[in-house]
Amino acid sequence: MLLMKPCISLLLVSFLLIEARVDKCGTQLLEGCFCGEQFYQNETMFVVNCTGLGFTTTDMLEQLPEETEVLIFTGNHISTLETNIFGDIVDLTMLKYIDMSNNGIRDIKGKAFHHVLGVERLILNHNNISISQEYEKNFHHPRVFSNFNSLRELHLTNAFADNTDAALADDLHDIFVNSNLTKLYKLHLEQNEIRNFRDERVFCDLPELHDLHLGDNNIPSLNFNITCLSKLRYLDLEDNNITKFSQRDLDTFDMLAQPYRSENLRIQLEGNPFRCDSAIKNLYNWLHKTKVIVRDLDRLECHQAKYGKRYIMNLKILQNRDKQKYHKLLWCF
Ligand SMILES: *[C@@H]1O[C@H](CO)[C@@H](O)[C@H](O)[C@H]1NC(C)=O
Ligand SMILES: *[C@@H]1O[C@H](CO)[C@@H](O)[C@H](O)[C@H]1NC(C)=O
Ligand SMILES: *[C@@H]1O[C@H](CO)[C@@H](O)[C@H](O)[C@H]1NC(C)=O
Ligand SMILES: *[C@@H]1O[C@H](CO)[C@@H](O)[C@H](O)[C@H]1NC(C)=O
Ligand SMILES: *[C@@H]1O[C@H](CO)[C@@H](O)[C@H](O)[C@H]1NC(C)=O
Ligand SMILES: *[C@@H]1O[C@H](CO)[C@@H](O)[C@H](O)[C@H]1NC(C)=O
Repeated sequence: MLLMKPCISLLLVSFLLIEARVDKCGTQLLEGCFCGEQFYQNETMFVVNCTGLGFTTTDMLEQLPEETEVLIFTGNHISTLETNIFGDIVDLTMLKYIDMSNNGIRDIKGKAFHHVLGVERLILNHNNISISQEYEKNFHHPRVFSNFNSLRELHLTNAFADNTDAALADDLHDIFVNSNLTKLYKLHLEQNEIRNFRDERVFCDLPELHDLHLGDNNIPSLNFNITCLSKLRYLDLEDNNITKFSQRDLDTFDMLAQPYRSENLRIQLEGNPFRCDSAIKNLYNWLHKTKVIVRDLDRLECHQAKYGKRYIMNLKILQNRDKQKYHKLLWCF
């Protein structure tokens, strides 16, 4: 008898919790979602979490509670984000974070996002967004992010369908020009098979951009303008296809460090197939005198197939050798 009591109160507590959820979601459409206050990013926020519930439409998002601050809608099966996913009546002034990763999204209609004036972070990672040749179809909506006046972080890691690199790079440019993302601070574009940008000024309409993440793509050189980004402080180019930097590229990096800037640019270059040729001599000398902070310098390598075998030389080891010896080594290339 004594043992029963805690059981009953436990049952009662969990029952009350379930009740609280349904109450806080306020609608049957959001059944299965968690709605309520939760500790998120060091703050107590009103979270609506609809993860892995097998949703195939976003209809329920038209009924989001007005107090929603964080929307986590991930792991569902939404092929299309229709126009105005949050409906017309809701007043989502509190909404700050949206995570719609991993939903298999292929198509984002124009004006899909309305009522998002206060949103600071949008995450669309791991989707399958495709680029259509036909204008006004699929992602070809240059204003797709145009209502995000407060957006500070845009996460588009592995967001796009494969083999869309050329079109994607063009589209991105249109999107940034047309979207008025004047507060965008951080942009993630990793794992999208990007090679070239048709317009090298692709990021120039993002005046507040501080951190640009382009790792895990196929970019072969500094083929986009960074000097127009007066606030840029971190550029991630790791695991791309860079074999060398020209003197002009190195000069460009220098423009984003002292004495031209008070804060020195940091760059990540690890995992690129630098060739051990005369350009690497130049890079080596530059590394010695630049104010640009190159992260993980000790893992920077150059590669050369010589005598049929791949030769990998660690630049840090080179640096630690005395200059004479090093010069002799490099002169061979
Ligand atoms: C949360 O707070 C800790 C300690 O103050 C800090 O290191 C961390 O960066 C914060 N996280 C976020 C997401 O703000
Ligand atoms: C959202 O819900 C899923 C599944 O219940 C859970 O794994 C995840 O941690 C939740 N996310 C947050 C930020 O609470
Ligand atoms: C992504 O879309 C392509 C066709 O557009 C399809 O072949 C592929 O299976 C999709 N991948 C996922 C993970 O949905
Ligand atoms: C662009 O955004 C700024 C604030 O971020 C706003 O003041 C301005 O009106 C917007 N311009 C357009 C054309 O929407
Ligand atoms: C990497 O660059 C080389 C030429 O330097 C080129 O042959 C190759 O196709 C590129 N790889 C990718 C995946 O773009
Ligand atoms: C990049 O843009 C800046 C300013 O908009 C311009 O002065 C500079 O010449 C451009 N850099 C290159 C390499 O085209």
